[in-house]
Amino acid sequence: MTRSAQDALIWKRLRTERPNARQRAFFASEALHTMYGGARGGGKSWAARRKAVLLCIAYAGLRVLLVRRTMPELRENHIIPLLSELDGYAQYRQDDRAFVFPNGSRLKLGYCDCDSDMIQYQGNEYDAIFFEEATNLREEWIRFIATTLRTGRTDGFRTRIYYTCNPGGVSHAYFKRLFIDRQFVDGEDPDDYLYIPATVRDNAVLMERNPGYIKQLEALPENLRRAHLDGDWNVFDGAFFAELRLFTKPLADATMTHVVEPFGIPYSWRIYRSFDWGYSKPSACLWWAVDYDGRAYLADELYTCAARGGAMIPDTGLKWSADQVFAEIHRRESERFPGRQITGVADPAIWAENGGEPIVAAADRHQVYFDRADHTRIAGWMQVRRRLQFGEDGRPMLYIFSTCKNTLRTLPILQYSARDPEDLDTTEEDHIADALRYFCMMSPLSPEREAKPNYPTIDPLAKPKAERISYF
Ligand SMILES: Nc1ncnc2c1ncn2[C@@H]1O[C@H](COP(=O)(O)OP(=O)(O)OP(=O)(O)O)[C@@H](O)[C@H]1O
Ligand SMILES: [Mg+2]
Repeated sequence: MTRSAQDALIWKRLRTERPNARQRAFFASEALHTMYGGARGGGKSWAARRKAVLLCIAYAGLRVLLVRRTMPELRENHIIPLLSELDGYAQYRQDDRAFVFPNGSRLKLGYCDCDSDMIQYQGNEYDAIFFEEATNLREEWIRFIATTLRTGRTDGFRTRIYYTCNPGGVSHAYFKRLFIDRQFVDGEDPDDYLYIPATVRDNAVLMERNPGYIKQLEALPENLRRAHLDGDWNVFDGAFFAELRLFTKPLADATMTHVVEPFGIPYSWRIYRSFDWGYSKPSACLWWAVDYDGRAYLADELYTCAARGGAMIPDTGLKWSADQVFAEIHRRESERFPGRQITGVADPAIWAENGGEPIVAAADRHQVYFDRADHTRIAGWMQVRRRLQFGEDGRPMLYIFSTCKNTLRTLPILQYSARDPEDLDTTEEDHIADALRYFCMMSPLSPEREAKPNYPTIDPLAKPKAERISYF
């Protein structure tokens, strides 16, 4: 090694820095999939960066990929620190965003922010891959990039993938299933998945250098604090329906929750159906029972989502034709609600002709009738929130039967849109949320359910409300 190579900052750092116990476990893991962190400030980015460099130093000719969602994040968290740490030791090739080590190893820094970014990884081969803040990357991008993990090495190096992440983000459910709930499907070997949890309390360096940081985390609203400080995967940042409480309770006892054990629906309650059409994405049909107080119960769902080995493949439709979907809706209704009158609303898009027969024509063929839903987005979400709000008796105006698994899977993982802070991120699996919104707009609740201000609410200048038809 030349004099200047020995002087490179990375060697000084490697001599003086001490990984904490969790980081040591992360460094030592040779599992095919290792997930590290699960909370804020646990030393995740540091651990990923160091481990990637250590692998490149230890194995000559290694090909390592480190991915973050966006280029600015990649630059701030990794390229800038690595440029100074590796200066004089590994050479940075700006044109292909990679550090080349004296022993021929190559550390490629990548990003993936949309489907077309994913394609740039096609045809490459890596011995080790790091996904930093992996819950911010979509599951299909991760799976696709993971296909580049293959080695031509003959020294017995075990190819592996390291993930760092916090709860929340678009693939929260995927990581929670594999590493937290440890629910595996065909082709996934539980022994390949290792989770090393770490919170800021494990990061002595940060606690010492910035003792105020933990106070900042402690001062967060309860849900965010539980996710960021304690690494609680049941709540997370950015959830569009952060108010959802998913503890299944019997109806008699169902306060401060939105999930009830199924019960027999009294014959006198009214039944409604709300529908969102999809083909390559799933179609969502929700059946609602409404009691005398106008309280709604999501009693059943049909969600045409593809599955593999018993687990859903998120946001992937079964590609059922419109006739197949409406035949199934008709069958389900004859079985579940025989002889009952059902009022339906659907996304107005199903009336569109697009040069051929509108989707609604197939619905008519199967005696599944709909009115056009009011699909105003922001007002619709406001209605959903009003229904989810707990009243003084601790009960919301909307409950979900615990059997509606896709509703319970998709609603909690929806995120706010990065562009419109009042809307949700429509690139996510929002079909059930849309059907829920159409239902809530059928008979909007007045704002009185929101926290009552202690001043008169009558505004003498207010315009009279537009008259509208109410369903229930
Ligand atoms: N073992 C260590 N030795 C020296 N410094 C460390 C060590 N572990 C972490 N750090 C430093 O602690 C700080 C926080 O670590 P890091 O940024 O890796 O946390 P993180 O879990 O990625 O945080 P975030 O959740 O905000 O992304 C950084 O300044 C990092 O360099
Ligand atoms: Mg980080």
